[in-house]
Amino acid sequence: MQRKKLADICPITGEETAVLKGAAEPLMAWYDGAKRDLPWRRDITPYRVWLSEIMLQQTRVEAGREYFLRFTETLPDVETLANVPDELLMKLWEGLGYYNRARNLKKAAGVVMEQYGGQLPSTYEELLGLPGIGPYTAGAISSIAFGRQRPAVDGNVLRVVMRLLGRYDDIARDSVKKAVEDALLEVMKEGEAYRRPGDFNQSLMELGAIVCIPNGQPRCDDCPWAEVCAAKAQNIAMELPVKQTKKQRRIEEKTVLLLWDQEDRLLLHRRDGKGLLAGLWELPSLPGKLDLEEVNRILAEGEGQALVGDVSQTLAEEGASRMVTALRPAGEATHIFSHVEWHMTAFEGILQAKEDPTPGERSTVRKSSARGVAEEPRPYLRDVKEETPRWMRASRQQIRDEVALPSAFKGFRSRILGES
Ligand code: ADE
Repeated sequence: MQRKKLADICPITGEETAVLKGAAEPLMAWYDGAKRDLPWRRDITPYRVWLSEIMLQQTRVEAGREYFLRFTETLPDVETLANVPDELLMKLWEGLGYYNRARNLKKAAGVVMEQYGGQLPSTYEELLGLPGIGPYTAGAISSIAFGRQRPAVDGNVLRVVMRLLGRYDDIARDSVKKAVEDALLEVMKEGEAYRRPGDFNQSLMELGAIVCIPNGQPRCDDCPWAEVCAAKAQNIAMELPVKQTKKQRRIEEKTVLLLWDQEDRLLLHRRDGKGLLAGLWELPSLPGKLDLEEVNRILAEGEGQALVGDVSQTLAEEGASRMVTALRPAGEATHIFSHVEWHMTAFEGILQAKEDPTPGERSTVRKSSARGVAEEPRPYLRDVKEETPRWMRASRQQIRDEVALPSAFKGFRSRILGES
């Protein structure tokens, strides 16, 4: 039989929808017995469901669990989230990536406080109107937290449906996602999927997460759909789903600087308010892959001002130009974002500021105690505003406990924290 080609995109047929309908009940019975014990499934509230769904969008369940527990312990409800200082929010999110998710959570919490009296709205449409909530999340929250018959179609769900039906459609296409949503909406009009829409959605996700897995051989022996799955019958599960390959990522070479001051505090730079890692603290860097000699020359002689950009300016602001000493290689690391890869080469050195604290920095970091630990107040634990200083020095303890240093720099983290 000629297999369907990518070009043959067509909506899911009535016959296929009937297959899905028949598959709902065995799937949910399986879910009742096999589902993982996850914190957001224990004490189900709209806030916890919302938070978990946002966290899990780009994060594995196992990794998300710890973040979820820490986050809900610190910010147990919409009101505390609406009022959390940005820097604490970033710290709670540190390592999860895609930081706009966290910013939107706070923004949406503000809207919920102002427009909905602190209670998340229950309808799909109202949820869709909140910052950071798209069709998937609106479907997940309205079904899981409010029992509404709305599908929540993510990558897991697309995979299990494409395999069950043995379809070769390109799941990167909106039209394919829409066809799956429509079919599932139809399934949710009756039976167990109608009665327990949240469990129906979660059973699809769960099947995708623990049986019909994305990488490697699916565990068909454990699958409640083993008898009805077209991909299994045709032995094509490993070919499905088809997903159009992404555009090639741009590669950015950077030379990253770990500059320590006399009190063992690391120089950090706050990024612009727009774009990648907007507003977050980062290691200062120079564009390009430079060698030790080049970096030494640039830092020591102030050469190539245009090239160095922010760093030379900072060192000047810090009263520290020509004052980086003992520069040495500090390893290499790569970080992959969705559209760009950072290839980082690091150097570590000593920053010899003339005065400390320097004038531009006074409002950011106070004098440290003898142990190198900052004393109160800690003004960076607050909302990031335009006037928030763009540079600071942070002790190891501050970096560990308070400052959100994005995962992009995790290759240098153990070095920074003195753990390697
Ligand atoms: N992935 C996203 N949401 C999930 C959920 N509620 N359960 C399991 N995996 C998920």
